[in-house]
Amino acid sequence: MEILPKASLLDYNTFKIDVSCQQLIIIEEESEITSLFKAKVFEEKHFIIGGGSNLLFVNDYDANIIHIRTKGIETVEEDSDFVYLRVAAGMVWNDFVDYCLSNQYYGIENLIGIPGCVGSSAVQNVGAYGVEAKDLIYQVEGYNIRTKNDFVLYNADCEFSYRSSIFKTKLKNQCLIVNVVFRLSKKETYNLEYEALRSRLDESDLSLQYVSEMVLELRNSKLPDISEIGSAGSFFKNPIVSNQHLRQLLQLYPNLIHYDTDDGNKKLAAGQLIDLAGWKGVRDGDAGVYPLQALVLVNYGKATGKEILDLAKKIQQDILEKFNINLEPEVNIIQ
Ligand code: EPU
Repeated sequence: MEILPKASLLDYNTFKIDVSCQQLIIIEEESEITSLFKAKVFEEKHFIIGGGSNLLFVNDYDANIIHIRTKGIETVEEDSDFVYLRVAAGMVWNDFVDYCLSNQYYGIENLIGIPGCVGSSAVQNVGAYGVEAKDLIYQVEGYNIRTKNDFVLYNADCEFSYRSSIFKTKLKNQCLIVNVVFRLSKKETYNLEYEALRSRLDESDLSLQYVSEMVLELRNSKLPDISEIGSAGSFFKNPIVSNQHLRQLLQLYPNLIHYDTDDGNKKLAAGQLIDLAGWKGVRDGDAGVYPLQALVLVNYGKATGKEILDLAKKIQQDILEKFNINLEPEVNIIQ
């Protein structure tokens, strides 16, 4: 365990916001977690982070940040169809994807290139190109920091939904996720329901290597490389509207993209709304709307969290006025 007083969080958030915290506590081994309880770290104000890829720090954080950096993948069980892998929460998501690809485990290839760590993939139910983490997660293991008891939650108990889970709702800030157990397919199978991906592929010649390369190409054609430009991916969630609301909008914007939701409503593409409202490529100092994907806000250099948040608020206000839609942030805003 490493404890860094008054540490800068610049290298711990992909938005590259330069704020500090009281203490940065870095956990490298699962066994160190018990010392956190002994030191009563969870009884003071704190925040747990993984890859920091879905956060916007608006101010210096006047408390402790606990950064989970545990690593490791263990095969729990396998049969001829599936393999069950227990993966440490601090493992970099993409390293885990690479591991699956090199072992010919299917199901995760559409999620290649997503920034962040394995623990946060369960909190956030990350998703891309027709696949979500919930499709692969078998169970989530960790500690309830209030009761200090360990827990195992099966997939059905995690209340996964679009970019959400019980860890963002009922159990928000109450759980320290230690491991996630994933179930991957050993049989060749692909999810090509996402039109933009399918149209890039020659379906007569599929392989894990080929599909994952095409996914990466598609991502890179729209999303910024976080090693070069600060960003937390999509800043807002795609909004859900009623059928009646959609009908009204279609009269003004006949090309509006919409998808059916399970509960009979319609999901719109927030990126398209922001684009139609004229925000794509807009830059205000170092805070900007990414020119290739309007749903992504970026930090071109030295933007503060407040500058990014101000830009986000202006966009929200404008989308409310133009479309009567409240855009909800997908990014976790830490004030
Ligand atoms: N669109 C525009 N203009 C834009 C951006 C998008 O017209 O500036 C249109 C696109 O042409 C497309 C539609 O909007 O028809 C949807 O766009 P896209 O396929 O890029 O997907 P998205 O809904 O904007 C979601 C996820 C992404 C994920 C992609 C691919 C959310 C909030 N975002 O974006 O996830 O990579 O689908 O599956 O659900 C993330 O969560 O950080 C993230 C990047």
